[in-house]
Amino acid sequence: MHEIFQKRKSTRGFIPKKIEKEKLDEILEAAHSAPSAGNLKAREILAVADERTRERLAKAAFGQDFVAEAPLVLVFLALPKVSAQKYGERGRDLYAIQDATIAASFAWLQAVDLGLSGCWVGAFDEEEMRNILNLDDEKRPVAILPIGYAD
Ligand SMILES: Cc1cc2nc3c(=O)[nH]c(=O)nc-3n(C[C@H](O)[C@H](O)[C@H](O)COP(=O)(O)O)c2cc1C
Repeated sequence: MHEIFQKRKSTRGFIPKKIEKEKLDEILEAAHSAPSAGNLKAREILAVADERTRERLAKAAFGQDFVAEAPLVLVFLALPKVSAQKYGERGRDLYAIQDATIAASFAWLQAVDLGLSGCWVGAFDEEEMRNILNLDDEKRPVAILPIGYAD
């Protein structure tokens, strides 16, 4: 097994050091390189650094405070309609979610390789998340990934 898999573990405490732009770029590049059904890339990734928004995201994640403590929160959105155009119900209910979550996995592993840590957060109020991020019905938030330097 590659050492990156041993290094990766869920981290829920971060020091207040910001993430360098080059590192964020590499993480996003890795995420966008992930495969997708029919290569449709039925996903979108938002990078949230704004403190007030991170605090709101932490609240929407049922008070998981480490979400706000991390200097950066990546939000992975599935685009069900994009996949449904080609794959119907299966695209809408399954492939779009998989397109988004495999990108989250790639992002997390790339972050670890850059000396960063994170935690996959799936427990959040979806409607509240939609409100905070101004998402319409075509975008479904499926996972958030707070990342930063581990405390
Ligand atoms: C789909 C999914 C949802 C998760 N949601 C949360 C969450 O809301 N909050 C949290 O602290 N950890 C969450 N986790 C992280 C798991 O608790 C963690 O991966 C698991 O306990 C194994 O620990 P490890 O990641 O250190 O190997 C989630 C993980 C996955 C894959």
